[in-house]
Amino acid sequence: MASKTQSRQARTSSSGSRSSGGGSAFSWGGSNNAGVLIGAAVAGAAVGLAANVGRKMLVQLGAGGVTGDWFDALKAEHEATLAIFDKIEATRDDQATTRSHLLTKLKYALTKHAHQEEAVVYPALRQANLTHDADALNAEHGYVKTYLYELENMANDSPEWLARIRDFRAMLQEHMRMEEDEVFPAFRNQMNEKQNAKLTATMNKEGFKMA
Ligand SMILES: [Fe+2]
Ligand SMILES: [Fe+2]
Repeated sequence: MASKTQSRQARTSSSGSRSSGGGSAFSWGGSNNAGVLIGAAVAGAAVGLAANVGRKMLVQLGAGGVTGDWFDALKAEHEATLAIFDKIEATRDDQATTRSHLLTKLKYALTKHAHQEEAVVYPALRQANLTHDADALNAEHGYVKTYLYELENMANDSPEWLARIRDFRAMLQEHMRMEEDEVFPAFRNQMNEKQNAKLTATMNKEGFKMA
């Protein structure tokens, strides 16, 4: 293993060998200002990262997420999803681009929502011996993906596309009703405040990854 002195010498000689060249991007010393540039780039990346974290937090905290618990947050996401359906159903057949854009938004909202439920809430349901409900809801998420797949692969400038959207909405509304009116309230009633808070924190962490 090289001593500190040896490795310092090695660095000095390597920086000396490139004195006639443009300088290594990895050099931080002397009159070479690459270090300053790298420093600025790192700072810029940090600012960009902070902005992205801020954006993710806003997405994750959204309506219902700031003061509410996991259940309130999921209900708020259900509402937001139905609002996208409202917009889609208000489009005409000649608004294909708007429909594509709204379908992308719908897919994003549903993918994030399903991830939170599948990675946190449904496993917690199974732990609480609500396995049958968790499995039934999880299977329905498979059909959510099927609807999205079909809608993405159909011509969206036709009445058939909108009819498929309406079928999808009906299926999804029944799924949401099951969660909001039956399964989730029964589950929440089994938990104490601490368990509820822990589930909220765990779910927010997963949602943050997808935000
Ligand atoms: Fe669900
Ligand atoms: Fe849900």
